[in-house]
Amino acid sequence: MGNKQRRPLSTSADTVSKLANAHKYLTIKEKKAIKKTWIRLGVLQEKFIRDIWLLCAERSPRIRAILQLDEEPNGGADRFDLLVSLVQEFFDRLILYWKLDDEKILEESYILGVEHGHLHESWFQSIFWDIFLASMADTVAGVQMANISSAKLAFAKYSWRKFAQIVIGQMLEAFTEFRSGVMTKTVPSTAVSLI
Ligand code: HEM
Repeated sequence: MGNKQRRPLSTSADTVSKLANAHKYLTIKEKKAIKKTWIRLGVLQEKFIRDIWLLCAERSPRIRAILQLDEEPNGGADRFDLLVSLVQEFFDRLILYWKLDDEKILEESYILGVEHGHLHESWFQSIFWDIFLASMADTVAGVQMANISSAKLAFAKYSWRKFAQIVIGQMLEAFTEFRSGVMTKTVPSTAVSLI
């Protein structure tokens, strides 16, 4: 009794860096779940993105103003519709075109974050990233899907939350670096002002 030796914790640099990076990379299983559910959403992809933006607008009057939801003559549908399709196309490109390649996810999100850094400071604030991420997580939580087991759907939702965290986290990092004038990565010169 009491003689049992504890196995020492692995302290190799490799393991440490693997752990540190685990939140930045999706596993093959997570990628499969994301791709499958995105394809399965099909025509509902647009509604999914729309619901995220509507939740953002509900949570932030400033985002509501940016989306121009209360503006005449068409209730700001143009700006709102534009942002819905931009975000839908962005996810579509990451999932289907880049096949959720880890480095491409980080690279594209970084560039997009820098692009948002160009948006005028008075109306784009860093708190928006939190609001978008929380709204995306809550929208993901509410997604219903027929013909998929509850265990598989739960795993897919977990994978989507992780994916959202990676994308928005990287956008926030790039946005913050751009605004502070200290960039750790280079971006193509095409990443210029959005407006
Ligand atoms: C609440 C946070 C956000 C706000 C308020 C916001 C706002 C904007 C605005 C005003 C534009 C310029 C649109 C124009 O041309 O009139 C823009 C562009 C864009 N946004 Fe966002 N955005 C937010 C978060 C995001 C997120 C999280 C994504 C992606 C997941 C995203 C994807 C894009 C894309 C792809 C563009 C187009 C960039 C280009 O011109 O290439 N945005 N955003």
